[in-house]
Amino acid sequence: MTGLLPEANVISFARGIPSPDMFPVALLAESARRAVCDHGRVALNYGPPGGYEPLREWLGKRHGVAPGRVLVLPGSLIGLNLVVEHLLRPGGRAIVEAPTYDRMLHTLTAVGADVVTVDRGGDGLDLDRLRDLASGSPRPKLLYVLPTFHNPTGTSLTLDQRHGLVDVALEHELLLFEDDAYGLLRIEGDALPNVAELLRARGGDDLAVFSSSFSKSVAPGLRVGYLVVPERLVEPLEALATRTYVSPPLLPQAQLYDFLAAGHLEPHLDVLRTFLRPRRDTLLDVLAQRMPPGAAWTRPDGGYFLWLELPTAIDAADLNRRARDAGVQFVPGEGFFRDDRGRNAARLAFSYPSVDEILTGAERLTALVREELDR
Ligand SMILES: Cc1ncc(COP(=O)(O)O)c(C=O)c1O
Repeated sequence: MTGLLPEANVISFARGIPSPDMFPVALLAESARRAVCDHGRVALNYGPPGGYEPLREWLGKRHGVAPGRVLVLPGSLIGLNLVVEHLLRPGGRAIVEAPTYDRMLHTLTAVGADVVTVDRGGDGLDLDRLRDLASGSPRPKLLYVLPTFHNPTGTSLTLDQRHGLVDVALEHELLLFEDDAYGLLRIEGDALPNVAELLRARGGDDLAVFSSSFSKSVAPGLRVGYLVVPERLVEPLEALATRTYVSPPLLPQAQLYDFLAAGHLEPHLDVLRTFLRPRRDTLLDVLAQRMPPGAAWTRPDGGYFLWLELPTAIDAADLNRRARDAGVQFVPGEGFFRDDRGRNAARLAFSYPSVDEILTGAERLTALVREELDR
């Protein structure tokens, strides 16, 4: 893949981007028109660092916090960067999961943070290790977790594990940063409470940072993400935001607010569920039918990704290089770790290709794995 979009003839399980068929184009067009025509006097101007006020109010209500604690940002990655910049430059310890979202690893490395990891495996998070790290020295300034539809594995923590996380955060006054970029995209099963919500309900309001985005659930081109932060972080993060980009773009925020206030989100999420489910199921079916023994993979209840562990003899980065010629691509697992794990793993995103492409792409991939084992 050379740019943001997959090359022709190459079926890409690589990018965690939505298919353009997932965008609610007509509704967003109406919302854009109303944002400009009815609210342009505000939305076309510079705005406050916390974002478009009606959207902050809408989100504050949704999360049960004062609107002043919601920072609406040009994408949620900016929120990760602002929090890391504020808490961890210069240095300081951060705990992340292994594996974890690769861009967060880059961000932490860029500020010189001391990054330590807790394993996120089939049984969830290693809470004993987390407890040791949380009580150890130096004291960690941040724990970064993706409890729901984790990037890259697609897995979710159970309710017990969520409470376990809250216990550790409360015991050790550990600031917990929950990245929930995919949480709205549940394909099956019952929704679980966010960890930040549980933490707040159990008296840890001051320890909970929640991040989410409308990139995966509405459209990434809007660049609307947000943070819900403890009161004490509002001012420093707003100051940092102002220094970084003067003003958030209010127009897409006003457009999105119009879409949300008109009640379009829930019906749209239903559409996305029916869109993503056959894609996930097709991928799972082909893997079950054609992957050779020695491979294992996750079965996500939502989100964009599943995580494939190839037979140990296979190097996923090598395989991915050969896969391009065979017309399929994925993300090798090693980039999601701090250490040398993940070499035989791959992240497969099922959000972009069509069902037919997934069928063909997964057949190409499984054939390659078989060939590789035969070599
Ligand atoms: C886990 C996670 N967090 C944050 C982001 C950033 O998304 P955005 O900046 O578009 O909100 C992504 C995007 O891929 C992601 O996968």
